Formats: sequence, structure tokens, C-alpha cells
Amino acid sequence: MNTMNPSITAEADRQDQRAAIPVPQDKPEDTVLEEGKTVGTPFADDPKFKLRNVSVSYGAARAIKNISLDIARNEVIAFIGPSGCGKSTFLRCLNRMNDSIDICRVEGQLMLDEEDIYHSKRDVVELRARVGMVFQKPNPFPKSIYDNVAYGPRIHGLANRKTDLDDIVENSLRKAGLWDEAKDRLDSIATGMSGGQQQRLCIARAIAVSPEVILMDEPCSALDPIATARIEELISNMAESYTIVIVTHSMQQAARVAHRTAYFHLGHLVEVNETNKVFTAPEHELTESYITGRFG
Ligand SMILES: Nc1ncnc2c1ncn2[C@@H]1O[C@H](COP(=O)(O)OP(=O)(O)OP(=O)(O)O)[C@@H](O)[C@H]1O
Ligand SMILES: [Mg+2]
Repeated sequence: MNTMNPSITAEADRQDQRAAIPVPQDKPEDTVLEEGKTVGTPFADDPKFKLRNVSVSYGAARAIKNISLDIARNEVIAFIGPSGCGKSTFLRCLNRMNDSIDICRVEGQLMLDEEDIYHSKRDVVELRARVGMVFQKPNPFPKSIYDNVAYGPRIHGLANRKTDLDDIVENSLRKAGLWDEAKDRLDSIATGMSGGQQQRLCIARAIAVSPEVILMDEPCSALDPIATARIEELISNMAESYTIVIVTHSMQQAARVAHRTAYFHLGHLVEVNETNKVFTAPEHELTESYITGRFG
């Protein structure tokens, strides 16, 4: 390179920069991302979560840059965007799962039903019962199917009698679409189930403590298409009773389950719109680039 004509080198550098920054070259002025600016419909009339000017840093590195968003009651909202853009980080703020990461600092206003999620007197165990979480990899406890579902109700003292606990376990497994497969093997070890069954068990475990919100971080990425279809059906049914926030790398999945879709890019919330609009007529060119596969 050093022996090349300087103007050619400069041009090559410019090309490299263009390759590194995933911005369409024809309209670079439109792709300057302004902090706190989100196109579309990020706000809702009766929000379950009201999130304002949220920034998250890991040490000196900022992972979420001044995001404001409402999540409506009983909506399913999908978070999409390229790897490393902050989807999981932002999701984890909603039930303070980031608390366990020492270097993580969360700023801004995060309200659940008008109450500050990060208030110093907030009971985090109670918060996580209200805002449950299902992870990418099914993570049942190495206990029986029954004990997995009964775990939360037991520690929260939700059932006084064995028959009450039996009812909670049955209802939770029914809602998670697992009762028929599990009812004759409630005492079997949960880790012996198939991956798809384990993930539905984790959903049953989350449901068992009567949460208001369920956060799901790529819940189907370890599952085959049939198991995925069952979870997606479940998500659609659960929306009647819960508010659901799902991170997904599958645009088809977002299109199938989510009412609104939020597009994240390099820690910014670029666009939030009705899911159909995001995938057919995105407002922001970065959203369009992502959904048309120009990067991701
Ligand atoms: N525990 C952590 N410590 C330090 N940095 C972290 C930590 N977790 C995430 N980050 C950084 O924060 C940024 C956002 O990461 P995050 O995991 O939220 O992205 P993501 O959109 O969920 O990505 P993916 O689609 O790959 O799951 C990345 O730069 C990542 O390296
Ligand atoms: Mg993630």
C-alpha cells in the first residue's frame, strides 16, 4: 500500500471506511444517527413501560444511546437489529437483569406502571416476578418437571396447600402448551425433555408466578422449525394476558408474532412502527437496508 499513489491510497481508505460503516452511499446525509431521535411510533397512549432517555454503558463503552420508548399493555413488541446493537442490553434493563454486571451503568427514566424500575427501594425479586424472562437457551433446573414450575410459586408463597400448587402447575403447563406431553411424567427430570419441550417448560415456569410481562431473548434460536412454530403460536395466545417483548434475529418471526417492531442500530433506536409497516414500507433507510439484507 505504501508504494501506491497517495490519491489511490486515500481512495482505498475511503472505500475501507465505507465498507466498515454500513451506510448506503447514495444518501449519506440521511444516515447520520442523532441520539434520542427515533422515527415512527415509539410512544403509546397507555404504556406498561415508559422508558425515557435511557442510556446504558459497560465501563466507558456506551451500548444504548438515549433511547425513549413506550411498550403498550398487552402488546407484543419485537426488537430487531444487527448483532451487538444493544437489543439484549436494553431488554435486560426492563427487569434489572443488568444489575449483576458490575461495570454496567443504566441512566434515564424507566417506569413500569408509573413506578420507577430503578428506585433504590424497589424489590428486585418482586420486579422479576412481575417481569419474567425466557432465555435463548432453555435453562430448566435439574429438578422434576413439577418442581421446575412449582419453584417460583413456592419461593413467592403463592400456594398454601398442595392442591393449590397442583393447580398452578397444571394451569401453567396448559398455558405453555405442554400439559398433554407432561402430565404423565411430572416427576421426571426436566433436563430429559426435548429442547422445544424444555423451552415451553421455561415459559410455564415464567407464567407460574403470574407475571405481567414476559421478556424473551431469542427464545427460538436453539429450536427446530416445528418447536419454533409452537412457541410462536404460544406467544400469539399469551398476548391476551401478558405484555411480551421478544428479541429475534428472524424477521419472519417478528412479522408473525409482533404488533410493533423496533429496529436498533449501534445502540440507537432507529425506528419503531407497526410490524407490517416496518417490513413493507420502513421509514428509515437503515431499517430498509437491514430488512433487505444489505447488512446484518
Ligand atoms: N456483560 C458485558 N460486558 C461488556 N460489554 C457488554 C456486555 N454485554 C454486552 N456488551 C456490549 O454491549 C453491546 C451490545 O451488546 P448486546 O448483547 O446488548 O447486543 P445484541 O443486540 O443483543 O447482540 P446479539 O444480536 O449478538 O445478541 C456490544 O458491544 C457488547 O459487546
Ligand atoms: Mg443479544
